[in-house]
This record gives sequence, C-alpha cells and structure tokens, in this order.
Amino acid sequence: MEVKTSLLDNMIGVGDMVLLEPLSEDSFLENLKNRFDHNEIYTYIGSVVISMNPYRSLPIYTPDKVEEYRNRNFYELSPHVYALADEAYRSLRDQDKDQCILITGESGAGKTEASKLVMSYVAAVCGKGQEVNKVKEQLLQSNPVLEAFGNAKTVRNDNSSRFGKYMDIEFDFKGDPLGGVVSNYLLEKSRVVKQPRGERNFHIFYQLLSGASDDTLKKLKLDRDFSKYNYLSLDSAAVSGLDDAANFRTVRNAMQIVGFMTDEVQSVLELVAAVLKLGNIEFKPESRCNGMDESRVKDKNDLKEMCELLGIEQAVLERAFSYRTVEAKMEKVSTTLNVSQAYYARDALAKNLYSRLFSWLVTRINESIRAGTKARHKVMGVLDIYGFEIFEDNSFEQFIINYCNEKLQQIFIELTLREEQEEYVREGIEWTNIEYFNNAVICDLIENNQNGILAMLDEECLRPGTVTDETFLDKLNTVCAEHQHFESRLSKNSKFLNDHSLPHTCFRIQHYAGKVLYRAEGFVDKNNDLLYRDLSQAMYKANHSLIKQLFPEGSPSKVNLKRPPTAGFQFKASVGTLMRNLQTKNPNYIRCVKPNDKKAAHIFTESLVRHQVHYLGLMENVRVRRAGYAFRQPYEPCLERYKMLCKKTWPHWRGPAREGVEVLMEDLQVPAEEFSYGRSKIFIRNPRTLFFLEERRRQCLQDLATLIQKIYRGWKCRSHFLLLKKSQIVVAAWYRRYAQQKKYQKIKSATTVVQSYTRGWQARKLLRELKYQKRCEEAVTTIAAYWHGTQARMELRRLKQDVRNKHAVTVIWAFWQGTKARRELRRLKEEARRKHAVAVIWAYWQGLKVRREYRKFFRANAGKKIYDFTIQRIMQKYFLGLKSNMPSMSPTDKNWPDRPYLFLDGVHTELRRIFHHWRCKKYRSQFTEEKKAVYEEKLEASELFKDKKALYPSSVSQPFKGDYLEISKNPKYQKLNSSVDEKVLLADVVNKINRANGKGSARLFLLTKKSVVLADHKTGQIKASVPLPELASVSVSSQTDGFFALKLKEGSASAVKGDFLLSSEHLIEIITKLHRIGAKAADREQLNLDISDEFLVQFKQDKVCVKFIQGSPKNGNSASCKRKNNRLLEVSVPTSP
Ligand SMILES: Nc1ncnc2c1ncn2[C@@H]1O[C@H](COP(=O)(O)OP(=O)(O)OP(=O)(O)O)[C@@H](O)[C@H]1O
Ligand SMILES: [Mg+2]
Repeated sequence: MEVKTSLLDNMIGVGDMVLLEPLSEDSFLENLKNRFDHNEIYTYIGSVVISMNPYRSLPIYTPDKVEEYRNRNFYELSPHVYALADEAYRSLRDQDKDQCILITGESGAGKTEASKLVMSYVAAVCGKGQEVNKVKEQLLQSNPVLEAFGNAKTVRNDNSSRFGKYMDIEFDFKGDPLGGVVSNYLLEKSRVVKQPRGERNFHIFYQLLSGASDDTLKKLKLDRDFSKYNYLSLDSAAVSGLDDAANFRTVRNAMQIVGFMTDEVQSVLELVAAVLKLGNIEFKPESRCNGMDESRVKDKNDLKEMCELLGIEQAVLERAFSYRTVEAKMEKVSTTLNVSQAYYARDALAKNLYSRLFSWLVTRINESIRAGTKARHKVMGVLDIYGFEIFEDNSFEQFIINYCNEKLQQIFIELTLREEQEEYVREGIEWTNIEYFNNAVICDLIENNQNGILAMLDEECLRPGTVTDETFLDKLNTVCAEHQHFESRLSKNSKFLNDHSLPHTCFRIQHYAGKVLYRAEGFVDKNNDLLYRDLSQAMYKANHSLIKQLFPEGSPSKVNLKRPPTAGFQFKASVGTLMRNLQTKNPNYIRCVKPNDKKAAHIFTESLVRHQVHYLGLMENVRVRRAGYAFRQPYEPCLERYKMLCKKTWPHWRGPAREGVEVLMEDLQVPAEEFSYGRSKIFIRNPRTLFFLEERRRQCLQDLATLIQKIYRGWKCRSHFLLLKKSQIVVAAWYRRYAQQKKYQKIKSATTVVQSYTRGWQARKLLRELKYQKRCEEAVTTIAAYWHGTQARMELRRLKQDVRNKHAVTVIWAFWQGTKARRELRRLKEEARRKHAVAVIWAYWQGLKVRREYRKFFRANAGKKIYDFTIQRIMQKYFLGLKSNMPSMSPTDKNWPDRPYLFLDGVHTELRRIFHHWRCKKYRSQFTEEKKAVYEEKLEASELFKDKKALYPSSVSQPFKGDYLEISKNPKYQKLNSSVDEKVLLADVVNKINRANGKGSARLFLLTKKSVVLADHKTGQIKASVPLPELASVSVSSQTDGFFALKLKEGSASAVKGDFLLSSEHLIEIITKLHRIGAKAADREQLNLDISDEFLVQFKQDKVCVKFIQGSPKNGNSASCKRKNNRLLEVSVPTSP
C-alpha cells in the first residue's frame, strides 16, 4: 500500500491554505473549488479544517481510511476530518488535555455529519473490550434517537438540527471511553404546531406513522395517513432519500441499545401520538348569556382518544380548554376562553408536551451513558449546534439560533485571531497586526444586560400592563436605534425611513454572517413560553407515569406564583455556561461550508461560498496563520519532550529551560528563521519543523527503548542466575542431609541387630542355667522324697511295732499328709514357676515387640523404662483405684475390691489383711472401758460356745445386761441386795428344776465375784448361797435350750444339798460371767465347762442323768423337762424350724 508521507504529495490545489500563493479571496475560492471538484472536500488553514458539503457519499470514511489516519501526524496525510479527530484524541490521551471540537457553519453545511464522523472515528480508534464497546455503541446510538426527535426537514436541510447539542465524551487515563453527557439547547418547538412551507414537522411523527406496525398504530389509536393530522404539513411529507419507515426501525433499535425499557419506549410513542391527536382537537364558539363567546370542543372523539392514551379524565382536559384560572395572591379567578384562546392553549400544550418529552429523552439518555466511575476523566466535547440560518420569515427561534452562532463565531475569533495575535505581542515576537471583523459588538447588541435585545424582551414580558409585540418593537426602536447593526423602519435612526425592504413590524440585525430580517410577531409569547396552569394541572392528574413526570408544576402542592424564567433568559444563561466550558478546553475547529443552496452534488455556487468565506473570517484566519507560527510550546514541556535529541540536554539539563531549548535547537541545526524565542514559549513557524522534531524523537525513543530493554534483559538474566544459584545451594544442602540421615539409620539398625543377637544369646544362656537349676531342684526333691519315704517307712515300721500307739498312726498320717502337701506344693510351685516363666517370656516377647515398634522413637533402654513406667502406672492405678474403692470401716464388712492383676495377688491379700487389722484397731480404739468389758465378755462367750452350743448364735446380738432385775433400784429386792456383800454382777430370774417331777420353779439368781445366790422369787429370801470356789463345773447341752447344771465340788459345804439344775433365758451370759470370774480369780482354778447332751447331776445322794432329746414343739418353743425314772430326767428341746 502506498503511504503518503506529506500532505504536499499528490496534492490537488493546496491542502493547507497557509501555503497558498498568492493569497487573495479569489485564489482562496479557486483553490476550494478546485479541490471540491476533485472530491477533496477538506482543506486546512493550519490546524482548522474547512469542510465542504459534498451532498453525496464519498468513499473516504471506510475502515481503511480510519486505519490510514490512525496515529499519524496532522500534516502527514491529505486533509481530512479524521486527521483532526486523531490529533484531538491523541492530545487528550497522551498529553492529558481536555478537548473540544467546535463545528460551525450555516444550516445544511454538514455540521451534524461532521460531528458523527468525529465520534465514529474516535470510537474506532480508542480501546476495545466488551464493556468499552457497549459504551461506544450507546454513545453512537444516542444520535439517531436525538435526531429523530430533534431534527426536521427545512428548506435548507433535509435533516436540520432543530436543537443545539453538546456532547461530552469522557475517557479514562488509557483513552478508553467511559461514558458521556449530552446537553441540549432550546428546541425549536414552534415547529410542532406549525411548519413553514416546504418544511416538515420533526422526523419522529412521520417515522412513527410510516414505520410502526398496524398493531402498534392501533394501540396508539393512530392512522397511517399523514393527511389525517393537522400538525403534519402535507406538501413535503415524503422527502426523497429519506426512508422514514426504515429510520423508525433504526430509532427503536437505537433506543433499545441505549437502554430504554420497553414500557418507556411505549410511553414515548404514546406521547408522540397524543401530540398528533391534540392537533386534531378543534373548537367552536358557543355564545353565553353575557354576550361573550366561549369555546367548546367540536368533535370529542380525538379528545377522548387522546385522554385514553394518556390516562387523563376527559372532563378535566375539556374544562382546561374552556376556562383559565388565574391565581393572584390568595385569590383565584376563573375566566372563559374564546376559540382563539382555546387554540392557543392547545398549541401551547402540544409544544410543551413535545419539548418536555425531548428534554426527558436527553436526561434518560444521559442516565444510560453516564460514566460509572467518579475518577477524574478526560473529556472531549463535540459541539453540533443549529447553524446560522436566514429564512423568508424569521422569528424568535431564528433570532436565538443566530445569536448562538454569533457567540460561536466570537469564541472562534477570541481563540484563533485575537488570542493568537495577543499572544505574539505578549511573548515579544515581532508582529504586524492583522485587521479582522470582531462580532463582539453584535453579541453585545443581543445580550447586553442593560439595553440588549434579550434584556428588552424580558423587560417587556415582565412589565405590568398591556404587552404586545408592537410595544416590544417600540422599545427596541428607542433603545437600539443608534446601534450600527440594528435596523428598523420606525427607529429614531432616519436612515431606514424609506427602506421598503424593511416592514414596519420587523427589525433587522446585521449578523456577522449577513443581515437577517426578524418579524417581531410572536417574540413576546415565545419568550414567555406560558402554559395555562389548568393545563399543567390536568396533565399532572394523568394516569400515565411519563406525563406526570413532565409536568411537575401541575402538582397541587406546588403553588408557585413566581413567573418561570423566560426562554430568552434561559437560553442566554445556558449559552454563557457553554462558552465558559469551551474556553477551558483545547479547541479544534471544523468550519463547514455549503457549496450550493440546492442540496445538490457537484455544484459550487461561488457567490454563496464567497459569502461564507467572508463571514466566517477564513481569509483573516489564513493571514494570521501565515504571518504567525504553526506551533508554540512553553520552554519546560518543549525541553522535556525533545531533550533526548541532544547529548547536552539528555538526560538532565541543569540550567534554565529556555537555554536548554536554545542548545537543543542549535544542536539539531534547525534554521533560525524556522522558529522564534518568545518570553515563555518557543514558536515554531512551520509544521514541517515540528514533524522533523517529532520524527527524530520517535527514532530516539526507539533507541531508548532498546537501551531500556537491554538493561532490563541483563537484570532479568542476572536475577534468574542468582535465583538458580541460590536454589542449587538449597538443593545440595538438603541432599547432604538426606544422605547423612540414611547412613545414620543404617548404622542404627545394624546396632539393633547385633544387640538383639546378644540379648538372645544371654537369654538362652539364662534359660539353660534356669533349666539346670530346675533339674537340680527336681533331683533334690526326688531324693528328699525318697529319703522322706524311707524315713516314713522306718517310722511306720516303728509305729507299726507300737500298734497301740495312736500317735504313730497320726505321725504317719501327718507324714503322708506332709508328703501330699509338699507334692501339691511342688506342683503348685512348678505351676507358678511355669506361669511366671510364661509371663516372663510373654513380657519379653511383648517388650521385644514394643521395642521393635518403638525402636524408631526411643533409645535402647526405653523398654525398661516402659516396663518400669507401666509397672509404676499399674501400681499407681491400682493404689488409686483401691483408694477410691475402699470398703467401709465396719470390721464386719466382708467386701474387698477384686484384684486387677494376678501378680498383685500377694500384695492384695496382704493389704486386705493390714486394712482389716487397722480398721479393727480403729474400731477398738473407740471403746470405753465398760464397752471393752462387754466385748471381752462377748469374746469369751464366743470362745466358750461358738460352734459348740446351738443357742449361742441367738445370744450374739443380745447385749449382756447383767442386772436384769435392777436390784439396787427395785425396793422389792432391797433386803436381798443388802444381804449380799459383794456387788451383784448378774441378777435374773431362773427356773430351778425340781428333781422329783422335772418342773421348774422361779428363783432369783444373783452372781457376785464370790458367790452364786439363789433366792425366793417372791419374798427375796435367800435359799442358797454357793461360794464360787466350791463350784466344780457347769454342764450345758449343745442344743438351743437354757438348761445348765451347777456342779459342786465333792466334799464342799454346799455339796450337801446337791447340784443345781437350772434353766435361764440368759444362759450364755450367766455361764460366761461365771467362767470369767473364775479366770480372773487367782486363788481358784478355772471353772470347767462341759458341753454335752447327756450329763450326770448329783441330787443329794442320787446321781441323775439329764438327757437332751430333740422333740416336737409342744409348749411353745421352750424346752420341757420330764422325769422318766429315778435316774433319768429327759429334756425335750424343740427342733428349731
Ligand atoms: N461529509 C458528507 N458526506 C456526504 N454528505 C454530507 C456530508 N456532510 C453533509 N452531507 C449532507 O448534507 C446534509 C446536511 O448536513 P447536516 O445535517 O450535517 O447539516 P448541518 O450543518 O447539521 O445543518 P443544520 O444546522 O441544519 O443542522 C446531510 O443530510 C447530508 O446529506
Ligand atoms: Mg445539524
């Protein structure tokens, strides 16, 4: 592909007017025409782009073209709007300068097209990505929506913008679009109700009727036929080259992309339909009794349909068309409307409805495209405002539009002509002033706060009394008469008295772009822009979400008696804000020129173009540019940008920036006439010099990039190497550790094997020794057994010889028993040893297993430690368990916890024994002397009778009371008590058995330390008193009876009467006490106790045998005694159950 390297290459005419030679208006136009004829529609004046409308599509906006212009210097390629867009975008992205693209030119010159081209170029070259693409698409698609609602066909332009638009596109630091904000300026809303001849209403009306489906139209209660609607002019309903139906689809699609909800789109279309319906509402006069005419709606069908569409109560709206309520202070006055007032009200409502809908659309679009982040944005503003226009009939709208264009021309003059020339003077650059027309004076005529036309208009509108367009014109005629750009027939300036081209109802302004005749009619009304409050209230009441939003002032809660600001005032304020905004940004100009008035291709109407060149001040622009310098930059940024081109300034220049730049330019050998040094800036005359610097910089940057790359690569390789080295050291260290560990483990396992062999050998040796010892012991035992056998046999032989000697038998028996016991003992010992050995081997084996398992965790002596620890732990557990399970302290408690381990058997038994002894001791230590004596007696009773006499067990629980008769206390026995010297140890009632019949008679039985006394039971008279030494023995049976015989020593004094056979319930106690006294007395022998079921009793001379037999219970449970014969007394003891 051939790439042009300069705009001079293959150039038709001169691409940059600055290079035009000779420079004159003719040569300028000739150059433009020449280029236009060769389809070169763009021409530069320095950095300003002149764009000629080709009125046909040229193949210069293809994606290839976009690529061609992308990232190329401004003057590198032939002039194009893309070059300007690229320059602006790059300086925004790379130098962080906010930009604005100012597109000016008269209506139909191609401003809107140019703005779209700029936006599409920026969208094509900026960043990509899903999110970014969505933003771009939304920004671009906002255009068709706004154009459908805000553009219309005029005589000058088939797609004329009837509103001003300024769009700020916001970018992030990378240059990716984040979103945007659209500002709109005064929509020409009068077009909604009336269009000049040959013009159309806004596109959307025609698009809706042509493009909507039958179904949609039905829903909107519309008819496809344009002629049915009063608001649609018929003569130019169809525009050639404009496909309304297709455009409607595009608009709906665009609304969807921008983010309108389906119900929002529907609401918008309903409003559009409502405006059409509104236009069809007609009124008729109705006379009232007061002679006044009152308006009435003619055919209510359209009204009804409109009310249905918007959800308004028909009666409310109908009333609003017939009455007007005026609120003043606290009063409300209702007046009727006549037919023309009703029409006025209807049109005002239609205009307001549409213009508010348009403003809502802009707000809604802004909601969708607004940048999400609050971070600082870079901004590129694109201004596409309605162009300067002169119609046959110019009204308030044209006045406002042209005022806006004046302001734009002003800003152009400010920034390019005046500012530039002033800068040269300021910077001390040699300069010859160039004359140009400054339109500030016209701006002043319109906007001056004291006597400007807008101020006059506002004053009229706010003035009390009758105010008409005529009074307004009168005022202008007085105030502005002397102004050189104001012309009026009735002004005090008599110059125009005979000017018949100037009607009486009009005034003329000499704009920068030509004279425009304005008809004063409608100025006051349009400036007031009043909508009757009844109508806004009716709208607020609508059951339609969008309508309600559009008429907030209709809310009954908002009673605002203050007049809203006038349309002129609002516009002036918003234009002022716009201008201030533009001044903060770096301007880029596209000056659109219209080649002919016929909207036709290939026609170049010289006079028309000449006029535009003239009023746009293009010649002055070229002159200033030619005399001046193409580029300027403060010294610091200039040095910063190009310092790498010179060794002296790279990388740092220590001195002042200006000197650095001088050194730089000298070093680069830039010819002296190519630049000038200002006070704070360097001025470069020719763009070529700038390109030269830029090119050198680009090359230098490449070298620098190589250098940075080289150093970076070196650093990266070194870091990599150092990392490898470090890693290698770590790996080696780990490997060495691993090898040493392996070696150590090998040695350890070898040691363990040797150790286990040694231990095995030692164990076998020990086993051999133990076996030998066991054999020895067995041999000894065998020998001993034989020897004992021999001995026993000898003894047996000896004892056999002494047959009568029972003892011998016993000895042999004992020997044999001994042998048996020893054998048993041996067997048990053997068994125990075997068990022990098994336990030892088991323990060894367990130990070995544990050692093997835990060898890796413990050292060699761990086994022993484990064993000790285990034993210790077992013992500890055993003792602690025992402690918590101790039986009660009662000596009779037989409980004792189970032994947990066999090897604890001995200890367990021993502990039980010790514990029992200890608790007995404890128990005994609590005894008092008396209790001790009682227990001693009990103990003695046990020794005497336990297992010998069946009565004994029943006596164990009976306490030994001794004195059962309470002899000392009872007065009955006082005499008896006193006659006994000693202390009575026992006093009880006993039965004395009569030897004659065996019957018992009651006797008092007293026992003292020295004697036994028997006394009469009733009288207490002593019958017998036997000193204890004279008692020989006591006989009792082995059965449960209470019989006992006190046997007296033969020859003693008491023996004369014979022995006593007695029976008592406290037999055990009596005998025990008797025996005890005998045991304690030193002078006597022990009393003999004879327990036998048959014994002899000496009754005086006779010896009678007392025999105890078991008998069935007869008289209760007591034993009964019977005399059988002279020698036998039989005691029948009932068998215990
Ligand atoms: N670069 C172009 N290539 C092809 N046709 C163009 C170009 N510029 C403008 N036109 C044609 O000229 C017509 C009018 O252009 P445009 O709408 O941009 O004018 P304008 O300056 O915005 O006018 P107004 O001030 O009325 O809005 C366009 O509809 C289009 O047909
Ligand atoms: Mg336009």
